[in-house]
Amino acid sequence: MSFLSVKQLKTEQIEKLFQTASFFKTKEVKPKLDDKIVSLIFFEPSTRTRMSFEVAALRLGAKTHLLNNKLGTSLEKDETLEDTVKNIAAMRPDLLVVRCNDDLDLAQMSKEVDVPILNAGWGTQGHPTQALLDILTVKEQQRELNKEKILFVGDVKHSRVVSSHLELAPLLGYQIGFCGPEEMLIDRPGVQKFNQLSEGLKWATTVYSLRVQFERYSQKEKENQQLTTANFISHFQLNSQSLSSWSKEGLILHPGPVNYGVELASEIIKDSRNLILTQVEHGVLVRMALIYHFLKEQL
Ligand code: CP
Repeated sequence: MSFLSVKQLKTEQIEKLFQTASFFKTKEVKPKLDDKIVSLIFFEPSTRTRMSFEVAALRLGAKTHLLNNKLGTSLEKDETLEDTVKNIAAMRPDLLVVRCNDDLDLAQMSKEVDVPILNAGWGTQGHPTQALLDILTVKEQQRELNKEKILFVGDVKHSRVVSSHLELAPLLGYQIGFCGPEEMLIDRPGVQKFNQLSEGLKWATTVYSLRVQFERYSQKEKENQQLTTANFISHFQLNSQSLSSWSKEGLILHPGPVNYGVELASEIIKDSRNLILTQVEHGVLVRMALIYHFLKEQL
């Protein structure tokens, strides 16, 4: 079985995954998977997800190998993404960790290869390990998830992280809100929308900043004058001024990469509510737990 979406998990399995991740945080890990090979297949750029899946596998004693984008691979000779995955699967690694855009149908691939696939960010479909590490980060702040109101600020429309949180929130009981210019938002049942940052912040207990993913914009979207960077910054940037009257208990999250000066001002690096690097730390733990439960002990 592959892991493509948090919808595949029951609440008890997510809790167990978090317990394993927290165990790995506090206890010395004995390498348990030294007979296993994890293939990292990244068709899109990545720093956090790729490196943390690799650290996670190595911490567990597994070996990794990497396909990192097109350069130097037979993708340069027009081999397809599908064939690339199938050929790597034919080498019989124990896990495939795949990042790709919407051009590759990971659900279909998971039926065509007999090596489990872990979704490491799939187009706008989802980024389940990111959503899980985000929520582990919130939980580790001793927060009750059924009281959490997470406000996603920015480019909700192109965010696969949001897609995964929309699946995870009903399982764990937290609420979601969207904030940004209308062109960057989507409608989802039960999700509050705010076109003014100050209104969104009054509602939120956690603010989750999102990068504007201009690389995923159509030509028509790029020509929309409302979506200029300057316009976005003046209304939706999280900075010391926009966050000055927000709760001191609030949490600030971002999946990375951050474009400082656009969605976040650089002074937020020093804000005591900023947990962005804690998210990265938890990324390793959640991915360790996931690899462990895939290769050693079923969830
Ligand atoms: N959060 C995240 O997916 O970051 P990377 O693109 O660097 O992996």
